Amino acid sequence: MELEDIRREYSKGGLRRKDLRLDPVDQFNLWLQQAIDAKLLDPTAMTVATVDETGQPYQRIVLLKHCDHDGFVFYTNLGSRKAQHIEGNTKVSLHFPWHNLERQVNVLGVAEKLTAAENFKYFTSRPKESQIAAMASRQSHRISARGILEGKYLELKQKFAKGEIPVPSFWGGYRIKPTSIEFWQGGENRLHDRFIYSPNADSKEEGGWDIDRLAP
Ligand SMILES: Cc1cc2nc3c(=O)[nH]c(=O)nc-3n(C[C@H](O)[C@H](O)[C@H](O)COP(=O)(O)O)c2cc1C
Repeated sequence: MELEDIRREYSKGGLRRKDLRLDPVDQFNLWLQQAIDAKLLDPTAMTVATVDETGQPYQRIVLLKHCDHDGFVFYTNLGSRKAQHIEGNTKVSLHFPWHNLERQVNVLGVAEKLTAAENFKYFTSRPKESQIAAMASRQSHRISARGILEGKYLELKQKFAKGEIPVPSFWGGYRIKPTSIEFWQGGENRLHDRFIYSPNADSKEEGGWDIDRLAP
């Protein structure tokens, strides 16, 4: 089988303007719920793209942990590559690939750090093993062998065998405040539907959005 021969038709019925919510976050949460209901694998997995100081992009998957009108939230290591990128350039792009629903969503936005209280609330809700693993790993740094990571994990497991695990100072979350959100639905004969929401500059009400159709 040649790669060039791998393709499929998209036949889930398209997306019409009349079916869109006025607010992109409402539209996103509707689609996310549909992805969860459809039992997609990792429905909350999103690719986060950041750029380094030279403009070189890098992408990685993280899990969306919350989405409301304030933005899209994920948690990570604050010394990681992505955190260093965000330190230098807060502009990020998020991408949700919901293949089985023939959908994708692209979010452009600006990252801000969560508060210590928000970090604490989520960290303490995680399983103890995840808390210890977060503490054991200097994410994105080079290590010489897996044994070093495992040794650190076991050491911390013993140290915190009893009692609460404090939130590491180098761990926390980001909230991406959206500046535009695009919804893509596959269509027959490659005539896909795309709608982009961007802030409505003329809107008297704060939080108004323009909705434009894009050519596929
Ligand atoms: C399905 C999946 C979910 C992941 N979720 C997270 C996450 O929520 N937070 C995180 O820091 N890394 C997560 N990762 C690991 C990241 O993809 C990445 O390897 C790590 O964050 C380091 O990225 P960086 O070096 O660009 O900072 C996940 C990976 C996969 C495949």
